[in-house]
Amino acid sequence: MTVSLTVNGTAHDIASPPDTPLLYVLRDELGLNAAKYGCGLGQCGACTVHLDGRAIFSCVTPLAAAAGRRVTTLEGLGGPDSMNPLQQAFLDEQAAQCGYCIAGMIMRAQALLDVTPHPDEATIRAHMQPNLCRCGTHMRILRAIRRAARPAGATRADALPAAPGPRTASATASAAPAHTAPASDHPAAATPCAATEAGLPVCALDMRQLDAGEEL
Ligand code: FES
Ligand code: FES
Repeated sequence: MTVSLTVNGTAHDIASPPDTPLLYVLRDELGLNAAKYGCGLGQCGACTVHLDGRAIFSCVTPLAAAAGRRVTTLEGLGGPDSMNPLQQAFLDEQAAQCGYCIAGMIMRAQALLDVTPHPDEATIRAHMQPNLCRCGTHMRILRAIRRAARPAGATRADALPAAPGPRTASATASAAPAHTAPASDHPAAATPCAATEAGLPVCALDMRQLDAGEEL
């Protein structure tokens, strides 16, 4: 028995067991190595790809769930000589440090831009919240997404959020009620982050809590 699916526009019949994680099929059988294995538990986003245009965690998506559907990986957006605008923006903003999270970041951001080409700052941050960057390049990643989301003819300043006030505990809490359940499909979205539980004022893993003008 095979599972038929389309990956980056090409039809494939895959003979792996239907419960094989889609990530393994992409990497091991189709040689598409952009999506990464991070946690394997649907908690980091390194494996993010599109399934019928929606960002999903391919590490916890069984092959059977992709039957008859359209999968898009980073390779399907463009390559080194044919980057799409979002890929180019990540390069222009030098958004990667180790780069391990970046394919997933781009795929999650692209899913937003495909539906909402010019999202506001809060929308971008809420949408990107499920994906983690262990290197802390969040602000460069946000800049890259803003760059790609900038309306034609807008200046860089036009795309920046309003300057934040001084960061205080109350301001942070009112601006980003991050530890209530967010609008997210992330299975661990309602879990308090370790940084806040440890008493740190800002969770470095949550883009919604970073000051808008902060540079890392
Ligand atoms: S590897 Fe899939 S969410 Fe972490
Ligand atoms: S650039 Fe290293 S994990 Fe994001």
